Amino acid sequence: MLSSTLWWQHGIIYQIYPRSFADSNGDGIGDLPGIIGRIDYVHSLGADAIWLSPIYPSPMADFGYDVADYTDVHALFGTLADFDRLVAAAHARGMKVMLDFVPNHSSDEHAWFAEARSARDNPRRDWYIWRDPAPDGGPPNNWLSYFGGSAWQYDATTGQYYLHLFVDKQPDLNWRNPAVQQAMLDAMRFWLDRGVDGFRVDVIWLMIKDAQFRDNPPNPAYQPGQAPVNALLPLYSSDQPEVHEIIAMMRQLLDQYHERVMVGEIYLPIERLVEYYGMSAPECHLPFNFQLITAPWSAEVIGALVNQYEAALPPGGWPNWVLGNHDQHRIASRVGPRQARVAALLLLTLRGTPTLYYGDEIGMHDVEIPPELVHDPQELGAPGYGMGRDPERTPMQWDAGPGAGFTSGVPWLPLAGDYAEHNVAAELDDPASMLALYRSLIALRRATPALTHGSYAPFAAYGDLLAYLREHAGRRMLVALNLGPQPQTLELGTLGQGRVLLSTALDRADERVSDTLALRPDEGLIVELG
Ligand code: NOJ
Repeated sequence: MLSSTLWWQHGIIYQIYPRSFADSNGDGIGDLPGIIGRIDYVHSLGADAIWLSPIYPSPMADFGYDVADYTDVHALFGTLADFDRLVAAAHARGMKVMLDFVPNHSSDEHAWFAEARSARDNPRRDWYIWRDPAPDGGPPNNWLSYFGGSAWQYDATTGQYYLHLFVDKQPDLNWRNPAVQQAMLDAMRFWLDRGVDGFRVDVIWLMIKDAQFRDNPPNPAYQPGQAPVNALLPLYSSDQPEVHEIIAMMRQLLDQYHERVMVGEIYLPIERLVEYYGMSAPECHLPFNFQLITAPWSAEVIGALVNQYEAALPPGGWPNWVLGNHDQHRIASRVGPRQARVAALLLLTLRGTPTLYYGDEIGMHDVEIPPELVHDPQELGAPGYGMGRDPERTPMQWDAGPGAGFTSGVPWLPLAGDYAEHNVAAELDDPASMLALYRSLIALRRATPALTHGSYAPFAAYGDLLAYLREHAGRRMLVALNLGPQPQTLELGTLGQGRVLLSTALDRADERVSDTLALRPDEGLIVELG
């Protein structure tokens, strides 16, 4: 048991999608001055760190995940000086700032790629991944883009194909080239020297590809109607053994600074995910654990996966949990608004660092986007599979006014139809709101070592009931969740008795319980035992 923990262990990370958080200049797109203007809200929520989705110069083919310059800020979002002000404002409040780092690919409008594509003998040619056409003139192998179609784009000027695991405007960098490694480490150093407290590293498990570029095998579980990319197993285009050396190199750089954190975006099964803590050298502090996003909403399944995850963690590996992000349908839409409260309690009481997605704390749900307003390249490239990500990226709902307090102009994505009821201002006034729940939960978590760094032990996982224990220095918490719409009774058995500290309905604090615990439909409880 750790007696003292680091900020990224006991803290809470709050993800901001900058385009959609707060617009200070009326262009309908959020920006850094907007975030500075709302920093006190994030601080008062109880978040310890903000992670900003990409703010770099970019043609926005993938909304900033196509970087044209790794060491500057897009004019849409502001300037480097604005960024410095944001870091200063966060640090003044004891909060950390994390950037999204996108190493797997750049924009095709990055100066490096312009040089690389100009001639086969250009010194930067090998910074990207080029291959000759197959004998029939087609792509060099069968790899698929996550955004639809082949992962190879033919370049007529030089007669070769380049690899792009995402859109063709996102050429993959060649991380086997030491010059690329150095240039990217220099970019990380640029931000670390500016005071950035860490990075969320985009698709970290994709950074190295099979040296022989072998064809990926068919996926035997693929069903017609699923997204086309799932037709193949990404055996040779992801999770390659050599990627671990690259990540260890990034980690060594971070370790030259004080308490910086590296969070890796990784969609892999648990046993492969935990390898990204580092097997022979330290790698990610927090390989993102997306199990609560990918698993069905079932007490039995979630109970089992928490046990599996806890058991798989390497010595010293710190756990983490996530309910949503800018690539996934919102939790309130996935499980419904009532269960979203239960989900909040789960996220904030499991052992490990929670990452919150902006707006989930006010119960924002997916917004239906009419076809003519679709922006997301994933939906445009592979339409009709329900994979569009615009619905979960709509503007933050601050108040009931025009533009929801997000903008004085026309928002870049439509606002939720019900924003006049569900917004920060209204929920701050409502003692039973989702926001009130998040604020109470976070305050309780911050004040309770058993919840921030106590041990975890399973207690029950059957039917709609999930219950577990968190314990530290003699204080023992029982967390009990009803994942369904029927009342439930949990036998406390040898746990004896206790006192309710918090109900997801925010109306049972201080109630004494003994022998059995009654849970109302869709209710979660934190009970201090003893
Ligand atoms: C993962 C990011 O979260 C997603 O938004 C992006 O489209 C891809 N990586 C490509 O960078």
